[in-house]
Amino acid sequence: MPHTWSPDSWRAKPIQQQPEYPDAAHLARVEQTLAGYPPLVFAGEARELRRQFAEVTQGRAFLLQGGDCAESFAEFSAAKIRDTFKVLLQMAIVMTFAAGCPVVKVGRMAGQFAKPRSAGYETVDGVTLPAYRGDIVNGIAFDAASRAPDPERLLQAYHQATASLNLLRAFAQGGLADLHQVHQWNLDFIANSALSEKYRQLAERIDETLAFMRAVGLDSASQLRETSFFTAHEALLLNYEQAFVRQDSLTGRWYDCSAHMLWIGDRTRQLDGAHVEFMRGIENPIGVKVGPSMDPDELIRLIDILNPENDPGRLNLIVRMGANKVEAHFPRLLRKVQSEGRQVLWSSDPMHGNTIKASSGYKTRDFAQILAEVRQFFAVHRAEGTHAGGIHIEMTGQNVTECIGGARPITEDGLSDRYHTHCDPRMNADQSLELAFMIAETLKQAQR
Ligand code: PEP
Ligand code: CO
Repeated sequence: MPHTWSPDSWRAKPIQQQPEYPDAAHLARVEQTLAGYPPLVFAGEARELRRQFAEVTQGRAFLLQGGDCAESFAEFSAAKIRDTFKVLLQMAIVMTFAAGCPVVKVGRMAGQFAKPRSAGYETVDGVTLPAYRGDIVNGIAFDAASRAPDPERLLQAYHQATASLNLLRAFAQGGLADLHQVHQWNLDFIANSALSEKYRQLAERIDETLAFMRAVGLDSASQLRETSFFTAHEALLLNYEQAFVRQDSLTGRWYDCSAHMLWIGDRTRQLDGAHVEFMRGIENPIGVKVGPSMDPDELIRLIDILNPENDPGRLNLIVRMGANKVEAHFPRLLRKVQSEGRQVLWSSDPMHGNTIKASSGYKTRDFAQILAEVRQFFAVHRAEGTHAGGIHIEMTGQNVTECIGGARPITEDGLSDRYHTHCDPRMNADQSLELAFMIAETLKQAQR
């Protein structure tokens, strides 16, 4: 250890991407209030996810991580949480049943509010205001009052995260995730599509399997009735994260109990920066986004700071290069990590390197590029003999029109129909399911 870590040792380091709050005393009061609130998750749960991450790293499971780019205060309802959860369940069952691969499910949910931005300010018609940094910081409307960072929003985000997590726990354990419900996970608006027919056929095979298991007396296992589901978000606002650091009574170690998993974004992964400092001291499983600017030696140094014990369940490298850039940037990173013997969970974020601006001005992503990046990610692993561990995606169970393409194609002109995201464009249920079938096919081939 270069020096002793404490929950606030990040405060002595240079920090990127933080809001400028107009009233520091107000912020300090809110931080104190948060620190007195109950944690959202327990250390034991984070340890369990770490165990499951190790299974993925060692090639015995697949990681599915998905949800909104940014959760918002306006789009907060039981139906929205339920529908995103259902699509994640569908995706997971497609991969589990069609490819015979256990799937670890992690939502970008119940805390994914804060956004890094490429520019700190935004100018419209000669008026310059602070950039929108997520509902946990300021409002999206372009007026001075909305854009002023407000510490009270940290409290609202906490309360929304607790209510979301409460519902997710109920969904995971209270019947919705029961495998006997596999038909019910299909959302109405995708019914009658070719994809939904493919899903229906798979669900029927699961029904038959369950009937057989019942007949031979094998259907009492709790794994058939409930599932485990974990939460994650980008640990961007370190004052918020610090408020949820707790010392585990069993092990004496520190956990960030705002979510099971936290990750460092591509813009805040400086080796000597505050975010790396904070994350090295918490025991949760953690992720780091790896974009095209990452250098192989820098990556090894980063791994050694974040995972000095080389634990296979600790570190998820989330590769986000952009389709057609994977080949130029990823193999040299993978080879370096392999040759140095570092154990990491590699996953693919096929979203953030593929953002484009449509001629209508909407920020979008071409579904074909998303598929292409995932395929390239798998191909590189196949060539190197390593395990493509998972995917990290922005998606929703709502019938949105934010990414172009897909089996029921969304065109550039159609983007305006139902474009609701508070930040980056998400795949809808159709597109997510199509991706899941493609991955299931690839996983199956990899086993041959
Ligand atoms: C994100 O995951 O929403 C994000 C901002 O990603 P990245 O840090 O990879 O740009
Ligand atoms: Co995003």
